[in-house]
Amino acid sequence: MDGNGRWATKRFLPRLVGHQQGMSSLRRCIKACSERGVTVLTVFAFSSENWNRPAEEVSGLMDLLMVALSREVPELNKEGVRLHFVGERTGLSDKVLAGLAQAEAATASNTRLVLNVCFNYGGRWDIAQAASRLIAQGKIVTELALGAAMALAHVPDPDLIIRTGGEQRLSNFLLWQAAYAELYFSDKLWPEFDEAALDEALAAYTQRERRFGKTSAQVAAIGDATAK
Ligand code: FPP
Repeated sequence: MDGNGRWATKRFLPRLVGHQQGMSSLRRCIKACSERGVTVLTVFAFSSENWNRPAEEVSGLMDLLMVALSREVPELNKEGVRLHFVGERTGLSDKVLAGLAQAEAATASNTRLVLNVCFNYGGRWDIAQAASRLIAQGKIVTELALGAAMALAHVPDPDLIIRTGGEQRLSNFLLWQAAYAELYFSDKLWPEFDEAALDEALAAYTQRERRFGKTSAQVAAIGDATAK
């Protein structure tokens, strides 16, 4: 969800106003995904590297999270959204930790859309924590075992990764899970990423041929490239 800061700066507003607007955009995106039959949405809200931002912005993002947790849960429940927070818990305040746990518990029985909010998350952190856990349990680090030990093991790998704000890189997002994801880059700043922009991304996705290592002819013959 890149581009909140630039959206605000362009309007001579504080960066935090951009993040607030980003929150509205996220709300709109969740609803639109749910209406379009998307069953898993994973968003990058705060990276392991975002601690390096000015203290005021970091505390503003923490406050925004707390406000979102208290305000958004009733609406998420209405929409059938189940929340998961994905990322390192160490480093987060007790207040934030309690808020995350409460929101997860309050939405635990919803089944329409799984919303993974990556917070204090980094793709490398996830790979390292999964490997450490396997080693601590005396297990062999295989692809299958590592995948099952990752923080996102409760959902399938993403089909489509959208990055807004014009940058064309993953910036430590879903490094393991992105192996076969289709990547889509939008020049729109996140607060401007609306339903039409989402539809454009989904339409572009449907035009991609997903081969998973097979040839085009094989895919055409079997119809589903993931089939053995
Ligand atoms: C990246 O844009 C965005 C973030 C670091 C924060 C994303 C947060 C939200 C969309 C609000 C929802 C928040 C929570 C806590 C659920 P940027 O600030 O790097 O933008 P820039 O590249 O224009 O500076």
